[in-house]
Amino acid sequence: MKRIIIFTLGLAVFISCGSPKPPINTFNPGQEWNDDNNVHINAHGGGILSFNKKYYWYGEHKVAGKIGNTAQVGVHVYSSDDLYNWKDEGIALSVDSADSGSDIAKGCILERPKVSYNEKTKKFVMWFHLELKGQSYDAARSGVAVADSPTGPFTFIESMRPNKQAWPINVADYHKLPVSDTIKSKYCGGKGCLPAHVDSVNILGRDYQNGQMARDMNLFVDDNGKAYHLYSSEENSTLHIAELTDDYLSHSGTYARFFSNRYMEAPTILKTSAGKYYFIASDCTGWAPNAARSASADHIFGPWTELGNPCVGQDSALTFYSQSTYILPVQGKKDAFIFMGDRWTPENPIDGKYIWLPIHFVENRMELKWMDEWDLSVFDQ
Ligand code: DGJ
Repeated sequence: MKRIIIFTLGLAVFISCGSPKPPINTFNPGQEWNDDNNVHINAHGGGILSFNKKYYWYGEHKVAGKIGNTAQVGVHVYSSDDLYNWKDEGIALSVDSADSGSDIAKGCILERPKVSYNEKTKKFVMWFHLELKGQSYDAARSGVAVADSPTGPFTFIESMRPNKQAWPINVADYHKLPVSDTIKSKYCGGKGCLPAHVDSVNILGRDYQNGQMARDMNLFVDDNGKAYHLYSSEENSTLHIAELTDDYLSHSGTYARFFSNRYMEAPTILKTSAGKYYFIASDCTGWAPNAARSASADHIFGPWTELGNPCVGQDSALTFYSQSTYILPVQGKKDAFIFMGDRWTPENPIDGKYIWLPIHFVENRMELKWMDEWDLSVFDQ
């Protein structure tokens, strides 16, 4: 009798979570998206690396309950040949033990990991937004890790505030004026405890000595192999685009600031075959969805021109209940890009869903339309 019960239970467990999943050939934005083990993909705030004809999806591994808004495990990685079907490749970067004193100790906040391959060093380099354990979002640091294989294991190198003691190429004179003591602490006004008039409180100048704040971020490798780190800086009020060194492991000190006082989060970027750069980001409303922003430029260091919300139709004012995380260039198709967004569920973060939609180019701007189901053939039309 006991044996029968154990066998039945085992079979039930095997069928519910162990059975291989039949392949799919469409994207279903906002629906559960299961991996090869039939488990919902756990790679939030993610980014994709294309390497040797395969795709690798890296993202925040979330756990159930509010504690899942902190890093309990690390960065999860999946691989795919076709973008629809994903194989669980395990944890690419693990957090250190809670009492280790490490910058990436369990319980820190580790968000929006992105990986690029460095042709010169033959290393896979991961950057992420890091908040030190127990310090909420005050640290505003960037972390970097490195691996010999796309699936890791990645080794954490260091965390820092980018570009310390370097002025941006478009620095204004007033940034270099002495910073008054009264603005060194947090300033409450405008969007809650954020500066109401950033330029008058000169956060850039305040952070010159110890490095600039860096929260929501992305990585972008240009056609010439130069890599750039894009991050929300200056208390989230202003975006920085910063060049990385040739090994992609640090900041070169060459950077520029854009969209001053526009409070953009979730920056993402693409470059078309014609050499034009496009940008999608969000407003700054915590986990709640808001209207996306977009912009274009002829050079990575600008000038950038804002183009408004790229979403159209129902729920466009809420980016279809999502927030941008990456723009994925589809391999083998010209100017085919997928908007990747997160539909956050901060009460139970492991439940968060993914919104992938094709980007359409309409008269020099981008357009995102809701689709319940679609496939890569949209790029052939
Ligand atoms: C919005 C950001 O885009 C997310 O990555 C996360 O940092 C949340 N804010 C936290 O409120």
